[in-house]
Amino acid sequence: MKNKLNELDSKTWLKFQKSWFVHNPPPRKPGVLVHPAKFPETMAQEFIEFFTRGGETILDPMAGTGSALVAALRAGRNSYGIELNPKYAEIARQIVAEERLSLGNSVEGLLSNVITGDATRALDYGLPTIDYVLTSPPYWDMLHARGAGTQKKRRTSTELDVFYSDDPNDVGNLGDYEEFLAKLVAIYSGLKTLLREKAYLTIIVKNVKKGGRIYPLAWDLGRELGKVYTLKDEKIWLQDNQHLAPYGLGSAWVSNTFHHYCLQFRNE
Ligand SMILES: C[S@@+](CC[C@H](N)C(=O)[O-])C[C@H]1O[C@@H](n2cnc3c(N)ncnc32)[C@H](O)[C@@H]1O
Repeated sequence: MKNKLNELDSKTWLKFQKSWFVHNPPPRKPGVLVHPAKFPETMAQEFIEFFTRGGETILDPMAGTGSALVAALRAGRNSYGIELNPKYAEIARQIVAEERLSLGNSVEGLLSNVITGDATRALDYGLPTIDYVLTSPPYWDMLHARGAGTQKKRRTSTELDVFYSDDPNDVGNLGDYEEFLAKLVAIYSGLKTLLREKAYLTIIVKNVKKGGRIYPLAWDLGRELGKVYTLKDEKIWLQDNQHLAPYGLGSAWVSNTFHHYCLQFRNE
């Protein structure tokens, strides 16, 4: 196989092509627990190794505590992250520095850069051409919902954040769904001139339940952003280690939603 996309052997390539996978996040490091929602570095590394080659450059425009940058280091890629909340950006810098120490000489010469900034202004930060974007947005304003089961422990803690920030530029604080969707689409569309031609963009996202109905965020993003990039595919991330909650028991259908969509777009 002449492989222009990545450095994987055919067997690993084929395994990644399955349209779903189960990945149960390993326990988080104490330093990043403060952040309400992150994707696992182990999973991010699999995406990065599929969509890029060694030495290429990835970007996460909403980097949180830096999982994509840690994964990029482990995979031998350069990385940039933009994160609005200075506290998370600082944690990301620390986590990346620790990872560099533990990986030693093998990552010398690789660049990892966390920018405290706003993804809507990505073009202002002097970024180079990007070979792959891997990112996950706030799932609308869901962290503000009182009923969210996973949030109960956070509400009683003085150390763990319930939501990302009070910043009006935080897209997770937009109460109007259409406004939120339009802002997300504008942010990702704005990356088009940074992204190398034919490069991929993966967005990890869920459809959102609110007030007894579904807001199909993943599908809406696919449709709207598909006007700017080519929507290539979805890959479904299943979590199989979550506790079931008796939502709607005996009265109505309310699922326990343990899957995310990893939407694949291509800049072509
Ligand atoms: C789902 S989290 C990302 C988590 C990240 N993938 C990780 O693994 O740590 C979404 C992040 O987007 C950030 N955010 C929200 N609005 C933003 C904006 N306008 N620009 C940059 N970051 C933003 C939030 O602070 C939050 O950390």
